Amino acid sequence: MPRLRFLGFIIVAAAFFLLLLSLNERPISVYPKHPQVYTNVIQEEYVTDNYSYTSTIKDVIKQQRAYIEQETSDYPFPYNLKLNNFTLSTGGRPLRNIIITTWRSGSTFLGDIINAIPGNFYHYEPLLNYGIVQIRGPPYGDLAVKNLKNLLTCNYTDLNNYLDYGQSHVYLFTHNTRLWDMCELHPTYCWDPIFLSEFCKLFPFQSMKVVRLRLELAEKLLQDKSLNVRILLLVRDPRGTLQSRKHRNWCPGVPDCDQPNILCEDMVSDYEAAIRLKSEYPLRFRVIRYEDLSVDPYKHVQDLFHFFQLHFHPFVKAFLDSHTKLNSGGVSSTFRHSKSVPFHWRTDLNFSEVQYIEENCDQAMKLWGYVKAYNESHLREFNPLTLYSIE
Ligand SMILES: *[C@@H]1O[C@H](CO)[C@@H](O)[C@H](O)[C@H]1NC(C)=O
Ligand SMILES: *[C@@H]1O[C@H](CO)[C@@H](O)[C@H](O)[C@H]1NC(C)=O
Ligand SMILES: *[C@@H]1O[C@H](CO)[C@@H](O)[C@H](O)[C@H]1NC(C)=O
Ligand SMILES: *[C@@H]1O[C@H](CO)[C@@H](O)[C@H](O)[C@H]1NC(C)=O
Ligand SMILES: *[C@@H]1O[C@H](CO)[C@@H](O)[C@H](O)[C@H]1NC(C)=O
Repeated sequence: MPRLRFLGFIIVAAAFFLLLLSLNERPISVYPKHPQVYTNVIQEEYVTDNYSYTSTIKDVIKQQRAYIEQETSDYPFPYNLKLNNFTLSTGGRPLRNIIITTWRSGSTFLGDIINAIPGNFYHYEPLLNYGIVQIRGPPYGDLAVKNLKNLLTCNYTDLNNYLDYGQSHVYLFTHNTRLWDMCELHPTYCWDPIFLSEFCKLFPFQSMKVVRLRLELAEKLLQDKSLNVRILLLVRDPRGTLQSRKHRNWCPGVPDCDQPNILCEDMVSDYEAAIRLKSEYPLRFRVIRYEDLSVDPYKHVQDLFHFFQLHFHPFVKAFLDSHTKLNSGGVSSTFRHSKSVPFHWRTDLNFSEVQYIEENCDQAMKLWGYVKAYNESHLREFNPLTLYSIE
């Protein structure tokens, strides 16, 4: 037995060494890491006598619970409540925040900002397994909403399609950095519904970004009082969205993705739904344009965090600092990095491409406050933004 133990120790030590190596090789993460916690996880596995499946899952869950407690120990939870009032594992109710948008509208940036907060569990593009489609109603609408509700309540028992898809498209989980850190240590549990449900229930903040569900259907999530979700509709200039999609190999040729008239019909119906939701759920529904967010990220992110009932944590500020640095373009560049990105389409598209989109998007652009370019030279330098109102 002792010899076996020693062998076990060697194997664990070697694995740990390899892990350290692989961690070193990973790109420098924007999120502060707490390597000591992961070390504890490994050591605990080594000393545990009971190697059975359930007990190891229990250990991982126990470690993660301790980690979240430590990570949020000085977090100012709203209403002076405590962590256990917000975790499903203790009968609490998480703060659930959802971004509704469409492909290439700046949601990766915003989703990652929210995920920078300690104690957040990020449901990244949860309808990925539906393919490149927009869900506006039947045949997928009810099932899609049900899937989202299951995820928001950490119920993974009926999500086999989602989990099967994820195993061959791991970016489904990699954006959920806290889950992915665990997946790298415990690959066998990563896609296990029992593990995922338990793991998810430890987190006080649940965020989600959805690019395939139109706003009218998302209202079903607001109607469910027990969920108490907040929804942010993120809107982008259709010229910027379509320019960005042109460069994705999964988009061209798929009507829901590359046709301006379809995108802009969705923008019009989102606008109509937005007016209604704003008056019915004034505290739980908001809209923001990607361009406004990018031009003044600090102001808008603080404002959005207030709406989400999240604290503007130093990690969030650090994320913004590292993603909105000055261009190497320096003095000649009018915009900081995050400011120029949303307007890149003005130089990447030619005037006839822009005109074609504008012809198909007349109403959507008027409603959301985007102005047309007059001619090729105007296109290169104009300010495409004006005001909009959903009051
Ligand atoms: C291992 O853990 C399981 C579940 O906690 C328990 O039922 C079982 O008796 C344990 N086995 C040993 C050998 O301790
Ligand atoms: C918060 O948690 C404490 C301790 O678990 C409990 O006594 C209290 O009722 C909870 N408050 C709310 C508003 O749920
Ligand atoms: C989880 O979801 C399944 C399928 O949607 C449902 O039958 C079950 O009751 C849910 N479990 C809980 C604990 O809500
Ligand atoms: C504009 O770009 C499109 C697509 O790249 C191209 O087919 C078209 O010829 C260009 N038009 C002009 C006037 O350059
Ligand atoms: C382009 O439009 C602007 C604004 O209307 C105008 O001042 C300019 O003369 C136009 N340029 C050309 C080349 O037509």
